[in-house]
Amino acid sequence: MSNWKKRLRAGALALAALALAAVPYCPQAQEGGERQALGGAKIPAGPYVALTFDDGPKSATTPVLLDGLAQRGVHATFFVIGENVEGNELLLQRMEGEGHQIGLHTYHHKMLDQLNAAGFYEEVDSLRTTLTALVGREEFMLRPPYGMMNAATQARAAAPIVLWSVDPEDWSDRDTARQVSVILDNTQDGDIILLHDIYPASVDTALQVVDALMARGFHFVTVEQLFAIRGKTPENGEVYRRLPPPSE
Ligand code: NI
Repeated sequence: MSNWKKRLRAGALALAALALAAVPYCPQAQEGGERQALGGAKIPAGPYVALTFDDGPKSATTPVLLDGLAQRGVHATFFVIGENVEGNELLLQRMEGEGHQIGLHTYHHKMLDQLNAAGFYEEVDSLRTTLTALVGREEFMLRPPYGMMNAATQARAAAPIVLWSVDPEDWSDRDTARQVSVILDNTQDGDIILLHDIYPASVDTALQVVDALMARGFHFVTVEQLFAIRGKTPENGEVYRRLPPPSE
């Protein structure tokens, strides 16, 4: 059994908790729309969405986001930069402890398709080693900076590669109202939303989106949980943009 499969199976308990917490929001589940997940936990039919945050952590903004997510009982995925982890180690441990997923975004935010093998391993393996020492796990998904990658990146990744399907380009204007409307207009079951937890406006966007989509019946899960819900094992070197329901 692959390490990812083991992790997903271990995650089934968390999914069962999610199902219990989610029942009031899920009329479909109450009508028998639920199904068996990995490990036999019953999970609601969805819709599901994964919030992902790149380029952090940042001491001024990430804790505000973590507080807001905790208040809402929502878990997200953070693709962190190694040099930003330095000095924010406790923040990383808080993320892991509160049930968020941590992923790789290189040590210095480098374009992976521009690196030779040695450069790639320096950027990715050094961060993996740092994170393993901090949070005690070894498997991390990879998001290439700018989404830039090629066949060599895939061959070297030693991790599933997670891109995104909803991108409000939050770095471009820091305009929460515009970002929220782009996300609400475009998000469907199985989407992966890209934001950056280094801007106050993006933190506001994220929390407003959580409230609005939860009111529409969406469940927020980590990317790893989204795989488990779909009954899919992430494969190293494969590229994932969204994980649609089987009916799509
Ligand atoms: Ni980035």
